[in-house]
Amino acid sequence: MATSNTTQAAATTAGTALITGASTGIGATYADRLAKRGYNLVLVARDRQRLDTVAQRLRGQYGVQVDVLQADLTDRAALAQVEQRLATDSAITLLLNNAGNTVEGSFVGSDIDKVEGMITLNVIAPTRLAKAAATRMASEGRGAIINIASVTAMMAETFSGTYSGTKAYMLNLTQAMQVELAPAGVRVQAVLPGATRTEIWERAGIDINALPKEMVMGVDTMVDAALAGFDQGETITLPALPDMADWDAFTAARLALQPNLSRSTAAPRYQVA
Ligand SMILES: NC(=O)c1ccc[n+]([C@@H]2O[C@H](COP(=O)([O-])OP(=O)(O)OC[C@H]3O[C@@H](n4cnc5c(N)ncnc54)[C@H](OP(=O)(O)O)[C@@H]3O)[C@@H](O)[C@H]2O)c1
Repeated sequence: MATSNTTQAAATTAGTALITGASTGIGATYADRLAKRGYNLVLVARDRQRLDTVAQRLRGQYGVQVDVLQADLTDRAALAQVEQRLATDSAITLLLNNAGNTVEGSFVGSDIDKVEGMITLNVIAPTRLAKAAATRMASEGRGAIINIASVTAMMAETFSGTYSGTKAYMLNLTQAMQVELAPAGVRVQAVLPGATRTEIWERAGIDINALPKEMVMGVDTMVDAALAGFDQGETITLPALPDMADWDAFTAARLALQPNLSRSTAAPRYQVA
């Protein structure tokens, strides 16, 4: 089993990158950087006008081909069209599973329908898209999938449990996909941003300026660091974490639990005969 964080080949041949949530924020910034690297693009989001504006700028600036796919990824029929594109278009060598949102407030005080919509967008959609892309890419022996998770995956006690849960899911999925797909020649990376200055906060009714400013990263810096991690062959990229030895220690402690997590007898502290 591959547990090292940098066991993967660093280079991916540029082709076409399909980016979800490409109309603004982290997705639009990736679109800029990937176009600069020579990728053609398929941009996915709901806001057609904003997508067209991004597409037009990138075509003009970098001379790449840019397709726009307007889709609400919480709509099963629209999602199926994106899955179909990923499953059949061999030009697509990179999937960026980025679209996501968050909901504010405590669990008890939350709007459960909004929570369900968030789980659909943050979990169901990227899972189905990753499956469609991974299946084709594995059969072709190449390709890469980047899943945008979050440091909140490790912050259940201090952040919305439902949002952090969706991001822990993406981290978990990425780790399992990496083990399964690396032998087939497919790269998988999870990016775990900390607080990043984008619209996601405002959309959820949270004031990002209430956070200490030393905790908030600019979106350009975040994406540039995440792509540097990709280039370095990382499976897990934490753009803000100064010392990856801290992550490695966390991973080692988690893996050390493994031999004792499933046994035929109950632990002595429960005093079960
Ligand atoms: N910003 C942070 O502090 C931070 C930290 C950690 C992780 N993240 C993660 O980073 C990812 C990108 O977030 P961001 O900060 O860039 O947020 P953002 O600025 O709000 O952008 C979100 C993108 O997702 C799209 N989107 C939203 N709902 C959608 C839907 N139902 N169907 C299709 N597209 C949809 C939006 O476009 P339309 O409105 O046009 O659909 C937009 O392009 C998310 O997964 C988020 O959880 C963000």
